Amino acid sequence: VDGKVQIPVVVNVLYRTTAENISLAQIQSQIDVLNKDFNAANSDFNSVPALFSGVKANVGISFVLDQVIRKSTTKTSWGTTDAMKKTTSGGLAPTSPTTKLNLWICTIGGGTLGYAQFPGGSSSTDGVAIDSKYLGTTGTATYPYNLGRTATHEVGHWMNLRHIWGDATCGSDLVSDTPTHNTANYGVPAYPHYSTCSGTPVEMTMNYMDYTDDRGMYMFSNGQKSRMAALFVSGGSRASFGI
Ligand code: ARG
Ligand code: ZN
Ligand code: CA
Repeated sequence: VDGKVQIPVVVNVLYRTTAENISLAQIQSQIDVLNKDFNAANSDFNSVPALFSGVKANVGISFVLDQVIRKSTTKTSWGTTDAMKKTTSGGLAPTSPTTKLNLWICTIGGGTLGYAQFPGGSSSTDGVAIDSKYLGTTGTATYPYNLGRTATHEVGHWMNLRHIWGDATCGSDLVSDTPTHNTANYGVPAYPHYSTCSGTPVEMTMNYMDYTDDRGMYMFSNGQKSRMAALFVSGGSRASFGI
């Protein structure tokens, strides 16, 4: 997979206000962040603690902006039930979802920064929704979620990654080289932050699949990379994206 998977990205912008009709520069800033974060080229990658230097990953998947589709709407918020992905509810249907990653950029509401569909779901709703205030690094991108990491996290889900705490107290993310976390972490935890789970490991709070602020997350692990890579090989559930 290393360097061989290049994902075309279709960006669907649904706007009511001029602010929601985000600029191409803001969209491109997000593509740039995805390319850095998935290729160990992010400037904070060298902040990964020595404890995790053996497992920090260069995922080796790249992204290229394919097209931007814009639609004016009267909706003030879109929620998390895929309304933005359906023309019947005033949204935009995905473009070529088996060969392109579709992003929907709109106001989601309810405090949700973004949400993703895992592999194996309906292609008619496949992709990732990101609130326009948390996309990219410029324009309307809003602190502390103004470094494009919401999309990095959501694309992680789209590539089959679970939350690092396994969505349960001391739950499993099905990845063996990430420590067991107590629960979600927020803000930017001081290092080292100890888990109270079995063995009291140091938590990998700087992993993209935790819930910290954007500046607090800057790595995937090799185990997470393996889970993602498995999707794109022959027989994998995203094999249509090619290798
Ligand atoms: N689905 C999560 C939410 O909406 C995304 C969290 C992303 N975290 C971040 N630092 N950008 O809460
Ligand atoms: Zn998540
Ligand atoms: Ca784990």
